[in-house]
Amino acid sequence: MVQRGMLSTDMAIQVCSTVKGLELDIRAEPGTTLKSRMSGEIIYTPPVGQQLLIEKLDNWADFMRRNTEFDPLVRMAVQHYQFEAIHPFADGNGRTGRILNILFLVETGLLDSPILYLSRYIIQHKAAYYRLLQNITVNQDWAPWIMFILTGVEETCSWTTEKIKSIRELMEHTGEYVQTSLPKTYTWELVEVLFKQPYCRIGNLVDAGIAKRQTASVYLKQLCDIGVLREVKSGRENIFVHPKYIELLTGEENVWVYYSGVETDNPQPEPNAV
Ligand SMILES: Nc1ncnc2c1ncn2[C@@H]1O[C@H](COP(=O)(O)OP(=O)(O)O)[C@@H](O)[C@H]1O
Ligand SMILES: [Mg+2]
Repeated sequence: MVQRGMLSTDMAIQVCSTVKGLELDIRAEPGTTLKSRMSGEIIYTPPVGQQLLIEKLDNWADFMRRNTEFDPLVRMAVQHYQFEAIHPFADGNGRTGRILNILFLVETGLLDSPILYLSRYIIQHKAAYYRLLQNITVNQDWAPWIMFILTGVEETCSWTTEKIKSIRELMEHTGEYVQTSLPKTYTWELVEVLFKQPYCRIGNLVDAGIAKRQTASVYLKQLCDIGVLREVKSGRENIFVHPKYIELLTGEENVWVYYSGVETDNPQPEPNAV
């Protein structure tokens, strides 16, 4: 659960511990360096000494709280450079910094929940990302870096909006398909359960008040019969995965194919590319 007003040195430690899957602390040992991805030569040596790193991180946290005259997106860009330049951990600084970016947007109220996948843009433009960070250290060249992050936010927002639009369309189409194929089983609430998570269990239908266990189990099997779900062995109780939804959630493109036998605007089933 993300709460406002939490970004701090401790929060950074918590995030990095989660990323790395072990309890860790600000690095105390010297020897952490950043090497060129091309030549392998050392291009940057971050500060050394646990106490100094803590001071710098406290200053970083302070920067995020103050300077509210700058737009939060600009402050996000600046604090991200600052965090990566401090490089407070032996490893995991990139991943931690990218999570902190999104938590910062929640903290400043630009996002309600941490759902913007800005890392996608950063990873896709990794060479530019590294070059622009280094260019601040060497030349104090802030403007291209800030523009890079602003463009990244813009692109990620459009991509996410398209993704949500496609999910809504798939949901409507699936509703029509279930209604046509299983008229006695269909309710919109059932379709909502299928889209709440990319897989479900009998218990999810029971909890949503759709049916008792036995009937819920029949419904899920019927949804398998018409190809909407696929039953997968998982421990004591099987789960029912929703392949089209998983594909749409994880895919780069927002492409999905109609279930056949449903009246749509496109009578011939064909890929729905957005
Ligand atoms: N020149 C640079 N100056 C400061 N930080 C940099 C520079 N080049 C890369 N970085 C940051 O360092 C990260 C890599 O550090 P690392 O601790 O290995 O993180 P991770 O293990 O999460 O990839 C990159 O993702 C980037 O954020
Ligand atoms: Mg690493």
